[in-house]
Formats: sequence, C-alpha cells, structure tokens
Amino acid sequence: MTQNVLILPGDGIGPEIVTEAVKVLETAKQKFNLNIELDNALVGGAAYDEFGTPLPEVTMQKAEKADAILLGAVGGPKWDELDDRELRPEKGLLGLRSGLELFGNLRPAILYPQLADASSLKPEVVSGLDILIVRELTGGIYFGQPRGIRELENGERQGYNTYVYSESEIRRIAKVAFESAQKRGKKLCSVDKANVLEVTVLWREIMNEVAKDYPDVELSHMYVDNAAMQLVRAPKQFDVMVTGNMFGDILSDAAAMLTGSIGMLPSASLDKNNKGMYEPCHGSAPDIAGQGIANPLATILSAAMMLRYSLNESAAADAIEQAVSNVLDQGLRTADIYSDGMKKVSTAEMGEAVVAALANA
Ligand code: NAI
Ligand code: MG
Repeated sequence: MTQNVLILPGDGIGPEIVTEAVKVLETAKQKFNLNIELDNALVGGAAYDEFGTPLPEVTMQKAEKADAILLGAVGGPKWDELDDRELRPEKGLLGLRSGLELFGNLRPAILYPQLADASSLKPEVVSGLDILIVRELTGGIYFGQPRGIRELENGERQGYNTYVYSESEIRRIAKVAFESAQKRGKKLCSVDKANVLEVTVLWREIMNEVAKDYPDVELSHMYVDNAAMQLVRAPKQFDVMVTGNMFGDILSDAAAMLTGSIGMLPSASLDKNNKGMYEPCHGSAPDIAGQGIANPLATILSAAMMLRYSLNESAAADAIEQAVSNVLDQGLRTADIYSDGMKKVSTAEMGEAVVAALANA
C-alpha cells in the first residue's frame, strides 16, 4: 500500500533544509524500494501570503489524509506585525498539532561523538549521548480548565491554571513511551512530582500498570527536580524519559542544549495511530535564511524518524542516520557546527553528501 507523505516547507530556512531532506527521502525510496508518495502544501507565513491564513483548508485536508508530515519551520519578522494573533504563522503549526491530535512529542537529544566539543559539558559526560524525551503535548497544565486571572474579594488579583491528566491521556502517552523504548535501549524513566502533585500520583500508577504490557522494558521513576539535576550531571544514564507537557517542555529544551547543536536535533509529534508530524527542533532562522548556509541535518534526521515511527521502515531510517554519521566522519560541517580543521560546506553540499553516503551504503 502506498504511504502518503506531506511536505510542508514553511518559512525562512524551511524550504532550503526541506529541499535537502526530500533529496535524501527520494534516495532512500529508490534504495529501499519504498512505496511512498510525496505531496506539498503551504503552511505558516508562506500560506498567509498566498491564502491569507497560516493553515488553509487545502493544507489541513492534505494533512488529514497523509500518513506522515515533514515540516521545515514557520515564522519570521515579516509576519510579526500582524495584529490578529490568529493569523500568525505559529497558529498554522498549533492548528496542525491540535487538529491532528498529535499528543506524543518525541525529542531525541543525540550528540554525535564527532561533535562532542560543541557541548558546554565535558566531552566524557556527553560524548555519544543518545536519549529520547517523550513529552505529552496536548494536555496537562498548558491546557487545563479553568484558567485565568481573577479578582478576589479583598480586591487582590490571582492567576490560576489547572493541572489535570485523565487516565486515558496518561495511558496513551505511556504506550508511545514504552513502544519507543522497545525500539531503543529498553529503559524508560518516568518523570513526575508524585511527592507533591496528585496528578502525578495517578501518572505513576498508570505508568506501572502499562508497564505490565511491556515486560522487556525496564521502568523507573524519578522526581522532576532530580531529573533536571541528573540530566546535567550524568545524562548518559537515561535511554527514554517520559513526562507531562510542562516538565517535558523544560527538560527537553535542557536535554537538547546538552548537545550544543540546534541544527542537529529532530523531533516527532505522534497521534494514537503513530501518524506523525516531523520537524527540526529549531525555528525558521530568519537571520540566515536565503544564504544557503543552514544545517539541513536536523530535518534529514526528522525524515529518518518519520520512516521509523510512522512508516515502519526502520532499515531506511537506520541507513539515513548512518549516512549522517558518515558525512560527519568525512569532516563536513555547516557553519553552525564548524570547528578548526573541518571542511565548511553549504546547505546543498551537506544534503548532497548525505545522499551520496546513503546511495553508496
Ligand atoms: P531559531 O531556531 O530559528 O534560531 C535560533 C538561532 O539558531 C539563530 O541564530 C539561527 O540562525 C540558528 N539556527 C537555527 N536553525 C539553524 C540551522 N538549521 N542551521 C544553522 N543555524 C540555525 O529560533 P528564533 O530565532 O528564536 O526564531 C526565529 C523564528 O522561528 C521565529 O519567527 C520563531 O517564531 C520561529 N520558530 C519556529 C519554530 C517552528 O517552526 N517549529 C520553532 C521555534 C521558532
Ligand atoms: Mg519549549
């Protein structure tokens, strides 16, 4: 059966880096005889310019039909002036996430040994780091009701939010996390604050319950404050971490920065059927857009994740990741990961090098 992939280049460096990822996908398609078809649509500022909205109906329809989506990035100063917040490029992205119920956010933090000196931590602490943070993306305190700022009887104002997770929400993110752990090192650490927050007492209970369906995965629990400490002290102790929306927001950004190279980090957001949207962790980098110097590897690695998690083509995913490692071995570096003695390459040269490494593998 043909699997449909929707390509959403977006804004800024989006189209440049997505072009390279598409070349890599086409190469993987040939080499592994993949039955995938690529289609294109506009989102973000590019869609606003053309249709007057960041998420046109035609894009949403294609996204609903697709088995997976590869997105560049959206946004830029050109659209920051828009008074109506609903028309801003980010709304295109949020609309896709909520419209498609992409609740399972996978954020790997991988530090290729070739780039160990990009990290602010000592090489021996981070070299070879390969962890995956699974963040619940559509629930928790970011979405809980009621919320707002109210006036108390004494005239003082009070801000409030509600931290809620239902059993079914916890169960479905647990499933994503256990399945991800099964595809990797089979260790899962669930992060909560069960000593203080009842929500996470339930969270912990459900995690233990779901664990029974995954006897090959070793489950542990950690309080979020300790997890933050452990991430910077000895990050390599982790394989997969799973946590709620807010803790995951913070921990995944911290974990990403352990690697020091924002141009290298892919991400996935999955629904309950493992349909997903895949995108680099970085934004549209307007400061370097149009110069042909952006690092396409985060987007290429996102395409690899897409093959693994949504399209069930693990061999092709492995081969792309291996090809990326191979070009780093060759000393090829875009400006953001450049260091002395290496060979500085453009966006397109980096893409072509991955294509060549993949084709010759
Ligand atoms: P950014 O991630 O776009 O850029 C931060 C810095 O990293 C910049 O100096 C940029 O040049 C550099 N950088 C980012 N990606 C790079 C790559 N692939 N290769 C080399 N260097 C790279 O974040 P910033 O500047 O805060 O936001 C810029 C725009 O992107 C804003 O409009 C923001 O709203 C949007 N944005 C979009 C996201 C998305 O589409 N998922 C996520 C984050 C920001
Ligand atoms: Mg964040």
